[in-house]
Amino acid sequence: MIPDYVDITESAKDSIDNLLLDKKYTQVAVLCDEHTLEHCYPLIKDTLKDHHVIEIPSGEDYKNLNTCQTIWNQITDKQFDRKSLLINLGGGVIGDMGGFCAATYKRGIDFVQVPTTLLAQVDASIGGKLGIDFNGFKNHIGVFKLPVRVIVDPVFLKTLPDRQVKSGYAEVIKHGLIHDNTVFKNLIKTDLSNTKWLETIKESIIIKGDIVEADPFEKGQRKLLNFGHTIGHAIETQFLEKHTNELLHGEAVAIGMICESWLSNRKLNLPTNQLEEIQKYLTGIYGKKDLYDLNIDDFVGNLKQDKKNKGNKILFSLLNEIGEARFDVSISPEEAIESLEYYRNM
Ligand SMILES: NC(=O)c1ccc[n+]([C@@H]2O[C@H](COP(=O)([O-])OP(=O)(O)OC[C@H]3O[C@@H](n4cnc5c(N)ncnc54)[C@H](O)[C@@H]3O)[C@@H](O)[C@H]2O)c1
Ligand SMILES: [Zn+2]
Repeated sequence: MIPDYVDITESAKDSIDNLLLDKKYTQVAVLCDEHTLEHCYPLIKDTLKDHHVIEIPSGEDYKNLNTCQTIWNQITDKQFDRKSLLINLGGGVIGDMGGFCAATYKRGIDFVQVPTTLLAQVDASIGGKLGIDFNGFKNHIGVFKLPVRVIVDPVFLKTLPDRQVKSGYAEVIKHGLIHDNTVFKNLIKTDLSNTKWLETIKESIIIKGDIVEADPFEKGQRKLLNFGHTIGHAIETQFLEKHTNELLHGEAVAIGMICESWLSNRKLNLPTNQLEEIQKYLTGIYGKKDLYDLNIDDFVGNLKQDKKNKGNKILFSLLNEIGEARFDVSISPEEAIESLEYYRNM
């Protein structure tokens, strides 16, 4: 089911309009970065009467306490009371951080997510996880709180760089792989450039929505969403330390999904023909990255640090088959390294 707080629409403007008529907020602010201010804000600004714009610099490097202070300072200066609203207009960084600021300001004011990247539309804006990075640890400080509304309009994707669209698409593929064989089959048949976004996004949100609803605080089933992310994060971390733009999140997850499909074939029953299908499909979209510079000790170190582990075991979410996954599968560091070898040798 589409969660009841999510509105998938071809008019974000109307959706915001309805919400504002309904709720009568004392003050409204829109949080943007320089890209969403330029490309997305013009699409909604006419529907907002008196409002403030808060602009912060784009990028993960700014998802921190300093930027939160800027946001809290601005709404404090403008005397936002508890009946005020924050509209987070942007990708996952804006949504996670703006949501966190709103959820903690005066013990919580309403906020609306208007996700403008594909990743934020199908993933980050769904499920109520909010937060910021701290001392080099990703999403280290945060809370769970649902927004009053998530307004998803594919129109925003028109200005999103192709590489960012592809990166978000990795989560769409992941949702199919872990939960819905038919969704995955349809993706394989569709050329990315001909995607009907409204439908694709809807199907993907339904999958994430169902998983999160069954396990809102990640005690069990929600861990399935980590498929591709255990190896993906361990690789992403090494690239992030270099502070280059060499590997986006979804690109790392695509590598992770190939390695973890190999582990699924080895440790569970994922049939070899399905492993090959996944591998071919993902390399067709994302190509193959040269990972020969990867430091294997650091890679294993990062795997062991994963928040989801218990004790010394590295716990993975893997595929029984396409469309069905299992969480808490224990994998040794050697097996994880072997899966990386599989990727390197493909
Ligand atoms: N809360 C969750 O459950 C959850 C889940 C997944 C990811 N996340 C978080 O999401 C973040 C990543 O999100 P992201 O990939 O959206 O990155 P992002 O927010 O950094 O956006 C990517 C880039 O696209 C630009 N942009 C956004 N919308 C645009 C548009 N419509 N047109 C042109 N440019 C646009 C942004 O300014 C930025 O430069 C990470 O911090 C991650 O931790 C959270
Ligand atoms: Zn992800």
